[in-house]
Amino acid sequence: MEKKDYKRTLVTCALPYANGPVHIGHLAGVYVPADIYVRYLRMRGEDVLYVCGSDEHGVPITIKARQQGVSPQDVVDKYNRIIRDSFSGLGINFDIYGRTSSAAHHKNASDFFRKLYDEGKFITRESEQYYDPEAQTFLADRYIVGTCPRCGNEGAYGDQCEKCGSTLSPEELINPRSKLSGAAPVKKKTTHWYLPLNKYESWLSEWILENHKEWKTNVYGQCKSWIDGGLQPRAVSRDLDWGVPVPVEGAEGKVLYVWFDAPIGYISNTIELLPDSWEQWWKSEDTKLVHFIGKDNIVFHCIVFPSMLKAHGEFILPENVPANEFLNLEGDKISTSRNWAVWAHEYLQDFPGKEDVLRYVLTANAPQTSDNDFSWKDFQQRNNSELVAVFGNFVNRAIVLTHKYFEGKVPARGDLLPEDWDALAQIPELRKSLEDNIAHYKFREALKDAMGIARVGNKYISDTEPWKVAKTDMARCATILNVSLQICADLALAFEPFTPFAAERLRRMLGVCLEAGTDHRAGEQVSANTYRAGEGAALHTHAAGVTCPCEASVCLDWEMLGSEELLPEGHQVGAAELLFAKIEDDVIQVQLDRLDAIRAEREAAEKAEAAKRVAPQKDEVTFEDFEKMDIRTATVLAAEKVPQTDKLLKLTIDTGIDTRTIVSGIAAFYSPEDMLGKQICILANLKPRKIRGIESQGMILMAAQPDGTMRFITPQEVLQNGSQVG
Ligand code: 2FM
Ligand code: ZN
Repeated sequence: MEKKDYKRTLVTCALPYANGPVHIGHLAGVYVPADIYVRYLRMRGEDVLYVCGSDEHGVPITIKARQQGVSPQDVVDKYNRIIRDSFSGLGINFDIYGRTSSAAHHKNASDFFRKLYDEGKFITRESEQYYDPEAQTFLADRYIVGTCPRCGNEGAYGDQCEKCGSTLSPEELINPRSKLSGAAPVKKKTTHWYLPLNKYESWLSEWILENHKEWKTNVYGQCKSWIDGGLQPRAVSRDLDWGVPVPVEGAEGKVLYVWFDAPIGYISNTIELLPDSWEQWWKSEDTKLVHFIGKDNIVFHCIVFPSMLKAHGEFILPENVPANEFLNLEGDKISTSRNWAVWAHEYLQDFPGKEDVLRYVLTANAPQTSDNDFSWKDFQQRNNSELVAVFGNFVNRAIVLTHKYFEGKVPARGDLLPEDWDALAQIPELRKSLEDNIAHYKFREALKDAMGIARVGNKYISDTEPWKVAKTDMARCATILNVSLQICADLALAFEPFTPFAAERLRRMLGVCLEAGTDHRAGEQVSANTYRAGEGAALHTHAAGVTCPCEASVCLDWEMLGSEELLPEGHQVGAAELLFAKIEDDVIQVQLDRLDAIRAEREAAEKAEAAKRVAPQKDEVTFEDFEKMDIRTATVLAAEKVPQTDKLLKLTIDTGIDTRTIVSGIAAFYSPEDMLGKQICILANLKPRKIRGIESQGMILMAAQPDGTMRFITPQEVLQNGSQVG
């Protein structure tokens, strides 16, 4: 059960690996929901700290560096920048975006390890691992190449053959050699430190399985199956030269395993931001810690990191870990290596000013409980028929008409009619539902509630037709527009977590400001606008003692959502701006064409690969086994299709011994005419069997091709029928 009376919330987002850009799968799974949550809590006046950063260690980074002929530091510097810019471009502004390659993190992770080490919380184990005697270094499986025992590919890796797709271990490779020096690797003993997770099993079981039954079912289910399956000690160090060195004498050449140091990064980054007050975020039971992650990170955040924190003893544990499932793209798994993704930095280039559209669509389609799909057509449709046609259209009508009839001033409200009350009454209900959904990490449903408010407004203004009423009854028209403008102000609040850029444009149009949150970067209370205003903006003080750079005379806050008067009569509304713009087919077609080209390229490459692929060798046979086969040359004397079948040909064969019938499943590859007069090889002594009522007395030898077709085997020169093959 969730504890209720927290004083502050610490939100962490999975630290993305700095070896590639982030894509829509990352955004939908982790960063957009976290951002909605943080913005919402801030609007509610809660004290929130929002922490992320890059995960800059691990073997794949060293491999990428080697491939590109640069240092691992160069790789992480490059992607750290790209990823950080993508996040801020999408309005995802962390209080701190740290780096695990920083000296401060190295020290913090080292200290963490050292405390556990000194207190005897680790066990050590010796194992044999591959070692490069020339480069004098242990080799991760990926660093060993050799010949695949299945397909003969000479460039197979120690963990996988990319040609035939087999999962391998380095032991299976034929002629294994080190990628570093080319030397044959040797087995060498090595010692590593392990966190004995088995010792934490009963504690984890009680903490999660008993006391956190409210966690999302996908998260709870994964935890349960890990715990029920029995936990094993996990190595927390690796033989590698990139990472946080193991701070123990005699541990040269060893670093902390990336999954040991990365989550400690959350703490390091907090320390970097708040060197004097970080402890209240990590050591106080009044802090609610929430980890936003993708499903592939569940075990590390629910089992391993909590066990590390428990072993350490000074830190709080997560209150919740609302992990999402995966997002697919146009029906296919997103894949970095296959370039099957929509990259955040490319989206920002291709769709300037449409940051919110992506946030909106990724939330509306969030893979909250199961994997979900992103398609460009759906993206276009949601933009055009929801954001533009409902939300934008309503706001535009309300503001344009206010200018047309009332010089842009909120007109006076007369007596309300039942339809006015009806519309207004729905908003507090939608707000309640939205709040409830966000509290339960149901952002997709919460967005529906926000959109529900826009639908209420759009229907209200369509039904009441103030543009017609204006011709006969200006007082009634004033009332309708007053009600409509209140709903616009509701929308400026309700959409702030989901589409912050549009919410800000709307606030500008309405001439209002928004009070929200503490800026821990500046260490003071600020409005949401200040977050975006950046340093050096001139701030003025709002009624609640909040500083803000805006010049608005009305300050909204969440508590006003659904109340009757957010905008007072006479309040000056600004000019109408376009809230959302329609996306045309040609823009979407560019994206679809790009994906089509990638798909076509991949299919061609797969075909070419498949063409080279051969079936693995069958189990051994003895010479005696082979000798039992009576294989002979023979000639086709007659051929016809077996009636009512697609696949079968009936062949009359001169075997040199006799003339006989063989029924063969080759009609898909050869017509009767193709076969006529051809010399072939047959297995003559195959036990006869009836096929479609015809007795088949032997079998034609065929070679299976990678594309699934079959070709018969013919001698290079015409031989005597009945010649034995062997
Ligand atoms: O899966 C990933 O992208 C990891 N880099 C996430 C790490 S989260 C945390 F532990 F730092
Ligand atoms: Zn292979």
